Amino acid sequence: MTETRTLDNDLFLRALKREPVDRTPVWMMRQAGRYLPEYRASRAKAGDFMSLCRNPELCCEVTMQPLERYGLDAAILFSDILTIPDAMGLGLEFKQGEGPVFERPLRDARAIENLGIPDPETDLRYVMDAVRTIRGALGNRLPLIGFSGSPWTLATYMVEGAGGSDFSLIKRMAYDSPEMLDTLLAKLSASVSLYLDAQVRAGADALMIFDTWGGVLAPADYLQFSLEPMARIVEHLKRVAPQIPVILFTKNGGQHLEVMAQTGCDALGVDWTIDLATARARVGDRVALQGNLDPTVLLAQPARIEAAVARVLESYGHGNGHIFNLGHGILQQTPPEHAAAMVEAVRALSPTYHAQE
Ligand code: CP3
Repeated sequence: MTETRTLDNDLFLRALKREPVDRTPVWMMRQAGRYLPEYRASRAKAGDFMSLCRNPELCCEVTMQPLERYGLDAAILFSDILTIPDAMGLGLEFKQGEGPVFERPLRDARAIENLGIPDPETDLRYVMDAVRTIRGALGNRLPLIGFSGSPWTLATYMVEGAGGSDFSLIKRMAYDSPEMLDTLLAKLSASVSLYLDAQVRAGADALMIFDTWGGVLAPADYLQFSLEPMARIVEHLKRVAPQIPVILFTKNGGQHLEVMAQTGCDALGVDWTIDLATARARVGDRVALQGNLDPTVLLAQPARIEAAVARVLESYGHGNGHIFNLGHGILQQTPPEHAAAMVEAVRALSPTYHAQE
């Protein structure tokens, strides 16, 4: 078991444990990305997005970029959720303007039977090397978040073969051959469990599971195909790395917060379609909450951004257990100085919510 690291800035880890802090910690989903000119320069050096992901030095460089600009309270590993399906042999490509595409999507039982479970330190060595390089560069200044996609979300890309689909192929599999989908989800749960555990051993201080597409399922199907595999992963992680906080984020998952909180995770990411006060009342003190400014707000003028930040902070209200974030990834069109306005507003406005009574 990894020992607990002492960090100069541990606001984020304290908030995840619902311990007192003197202001609300803040980071942004997709904080390293195309809205930053320095990111675009690093990606140009790499050639393309996957070459960037496979280069630990450049991954480290882009991970540090938003930290240097904004003074955020957490770093997140620069990588992608589709590294696991790529390591399973599906042939990942990012086509300009089309998003991710797999050369060999899963279309029959045999393809699923033949899938192996990637070994993180060999098949995904470049990701673990990136974690180690970033940890070295961060020293003990800030916590590092490791992440993975949820089994359901990975399966949607693997079966549909591309992003931007209507999910008809994977939903048909769920309804026509649920045992086939269960086999796939079991392999992905095992793969994600090993992958996240390896990220912890390489230097991650907290873990987040991105369930971008859980919200497209009917409630009973969400429980079976999205939540249950995530719950298995949380169970595994709590056994092998009990000190590491785990955040679950189902986009559009506002109706499932209670069951998500019962998985044993430490925090829930929430998007902007649910009010934080309502979310907090529903989960009580079982988990911390991370969110939930609509990323589109960052396209508006800084004065509007400040007002929107104030509303999010007021909605969560006084006390512990809030991590400020966007409700989904930052948009590519965001002016970098607008993200700065958001971070400054959180720093300026949040201390009153943590003042001792
Ligand atoms: O938060 C961070 O800064 C860490 C990096 C990160 C990336 N992807 C980098 C990235 C994280 C956490 C992800 C997760 C991810 N990847 C998700 C889940 C989160 C979410 O946004 O819902 C999903 C669904 C993916 C799959 C994926 N990767 C898509 C749909 C795309 C966009 C394709 C496109 O061209 O718009 C990517 C590419 C990607 N991942 C980029 C970045 C910075 C942009 C690639 C580029 O530089 O061209």
